[in-house]
Amino acid sequence: MVFKLAVTTVALAAVASAANFKRVTCADGNVTSNAACCVFFPLLDDLQTNLFQGECGEDVHESLRLTFHDAIGFSQSGKLNGTGADGSMILFADIETNFVANAGIDDSVDALSPFLTRHFVTAGDLIQFAGAVGTTNCPGAPRLEFLAGRANATFPASDNTVPLPQSDVDTILSRMGGWWLLARRSHQAVPFDTTPFTFDTQIFLEVLLKGVGVPFGVNNTDGAEVDSPLPESNEMRLQSDFVLSRDSRTACEWQSMVDNQQLMMSNFKSAMAKLAVVGHNPDDLIDCSDVIPAATPPVAKPATFPAGTSPSDLQLVCNSPFPSLNTDPGQATVIPECPDGDTNLNDCPS
Ligand code: HEM
Ligand SMILES: *[C@@H]1O[C@H](CO)[C@@H](O)[C@H](O)[C@H]1NC(C)=O
Ligand SMILES: *[C@@H]1O[C@H](CO)[C@@H](O)[C@H](O)[C@H]1NC(C)=O
Ligand SMILES: *[C@@H]1O[C@H](CO)[C@@H](O)[C@H](O)[C@H]1NC(C)=O
Ligand SMILES: *[C@@H]1O[C@H](CO)[C@@H](O)[C@H](O)[C@H]1NC(C)=O
Repeated sequence: MVFKLAVTTVALAAVASAANFKRVTCADGNVTSNAACCVFFPLLDDLQTNLFQGECGEDVHESLRLTFHDAIGFSQSGKLNGTGADGSMILFADIETNFVANAGIDDSVDALSPFLTRHFVTAGDLIQFAGAVGTTNCPGAPRLEFLAGRANATFPASDNTVPLPQSDVDTILSRMGGWWLLARRSHQAVPFDTTPFTFDTQIFLEVLLKGVGVPFGVNNTDGAEVDSPLPESNEMRLQSDFVLSRDSRTACEWQSMVDNQQLMMSNFKSAMAKLAVVGHNPDDLIDCSDVIPAATPPVAKPATFPAGTSPSDLQLVCNSPFPSLNTDPGQATVIPECPDGDTNLNDCPS
């Protein structure tokens, strides 16, 4: 009896592994797991050549932000409209890009829309694919999963589906559940940390430092921004990051990613996998992850306190031990504005 059972298990395992090795050859010679994935190879080339230029620059940051703003357009209660990662941000751009939380999203919508006329994919697939491809240009970003087969949205998402930088932790957790901790990336001109072009753990450290001022001497009275530790370096801190890093429900998870590149990468990968399928049953989608290029390895630099800051600036809520980190030597950190390290936005290659 026991013997028979073991044989059945082995037979099942053989079937399962045969399924994993299914291969199709596309017209262009690429090999993938499903014919439906073939369309993404030329799209990958087109995005890398004509939009991202192989860099982890502004267009990658903006495309990643778009994966989030499109996907979070859904409603569990049914009170709001939206079918999740469905391309509605592109298909109903006239409506959705006007929502306050989507300010600036029109750049990525305008950048990606032309690809829909050149490739037969849906808007929702395009958005999640572009985010997954773009982040492979960022040192330290994990290779994300990519599933294909999202139908085009047939109606726009409602306003108020996207959390604001002013939102409190209850609101953010109720909208975003377990994936609030998606590694937050920086804006070029107004960075959220000192390393905007590498996918490292600096942001988790720097948000925990005592704030001393806002960049550019601007007093933001709308509550989106709070004091950052490096206003002289133009570093900006969102109120939402500040409260998430100091709320008892989220502080330990936040802190756990400081100087733990591998944990940050695996958290980011699993959170993005959930985000990318909001509104879908993943079993109904086709796994085209093998189209996504290999990731760019992390820069081999541990997290450091930016010059002029120290452990005494930490505002810790979590009781777990804090890693021991070095401090960058010298004067205040000058934060690069271009992926090649240039410190003037006007000199960035484009
Ligand atoms: C509580 C949730 C979030 C809030 C309140 C928030 C808010 C913001 C704000 C205010 C900006 C600056 C926009 C600008 O002025 O250009 C921004 C940028 C950005 N956000 Fe979020 N965000 C949230 C979650 C996320 C998530 C989950 C992701 C990743 C999937 C993400 C990715 C980005 C990226 C990559 C940028 C930089 C865009 C660029 O460089 O143009 N954000 N976010
Ligand atoms: C496969 O796809 C890549 C990415 O689009 C492309 O550069 C390459 O020419 C294609 N063909 C082969 C045989 O690799
Ligand atoms: C989805 O919408 C885009 C933009 O209108 C279009 O190019 C594409 O063919 C549509 N896809 C399907 C499957 O309807
Ligand atoms: C949802 O969509 C319907 C039909 O388009 C519209 O009448 C309604 O106002 C929308 N609800 C919200 C909360 O946006
Ligand atoms: C901004 O102005 C308000 C009202 O004058 C003041 O209470 C607040 O402390 C100021 N914030 C910053 C960051 O300067």
